[in-house]
Amino acid sequence: RKRFRVQHLAEHKTAGRKLTMLTAYDTITGRIFDAAGVDMLLVGDSMGDNVLGYENTIPVTLDEMVLAARSVARAAKHSMVVADLPFGSYESSPQQAFASAVRMFKEAGVQAIKMEGGTRIAKHVELLTQSGIPVFGHLGFTPQSENMLGGKRIQGRGDEAAERLCEDALALQEAGAVAVVLEMVPAPVAARATEILRIPTIGIGAGSEVDGQVLVWTDMAGMGDWSPRFAKQFGQVGAALAGAAQAYVSEVQAQTFPAAEHQYEH
Ligand code: KIV
Ligand code: NA
Repeated sequence: RKRFRVQHLAEHKTAGRKLTMLTAYDTITGRIFDAAGVDMLLVGDSMGDNVLGYENTIPVTLDEMVLAARSVARAAKHSMVVADLPFGSYESSPQQAFASAVRMFKEAGVQAIKMEGGTRIAKHVELLTQSGIPVFGHLGFTPQSENMLGGKRIQGRGDEAAERLCEDALALQEAGAVAVVLEMVPAPVAARATEILRIPTIGIGAGSEVDGQVLVWTDMAGMGDWSPRFAKQFGQVGAALAGAAQAYVSEVQAQTFPAAEHQYEH
């Protein structure tokens, strides 16, 4: 299997082959998902609420993202590694976005970055793209703007909002973005954006008529006690892990572990 690269995004869209993306925040999950055949690993700032114990993605720093991205990039042999630029590391200017993206490339070794926003970051996308940095856009519900959006709410509802979302998507494409993530968007609106774009759309809570899907891995694998409606649990890894830890505790206490085969001879 060859490494998934930027040209495969458009090729998949043209061929009607669905793209797959999962988040990963470390080498262990990066290795497993890479071997499982996932096209793209997203080192998402969802690490904030899913791994680091923060309330949301807003406190996540660029240093934290670089560390996680490096550990995922080292594990990925075939998957393309995409890293989020966290809140505060790109908004103020194209130059700020460039400096943050360069850190992701030089220190972490990712193959693309993702930023939230449409028209407002078109100039940022343009500079990065012209500098050789593939950019993924992110529209719909954008968690870094949760305070402005008034919580985790569906975006692009109603004709006007849908039109604005499509304009933002076109602005990203025009600026050189290689793909756009659509989060918590009504399925027909995501379908419409997918239809008008040359570049692929990757949906999360955006229905099936998009070019690919992305999920937060802890939701996908049933790691947490809560997951959003749009996330399906494809496994019960949290329960399996809890079971393993309980069995370990029991066996140490019962003195059945370690057994003879776990010991070294003199
Ligand atoms: O951080 C993240 O996991 C994301 C996905 C939800 C698209 O941005
Ligand atoms: Na994110």
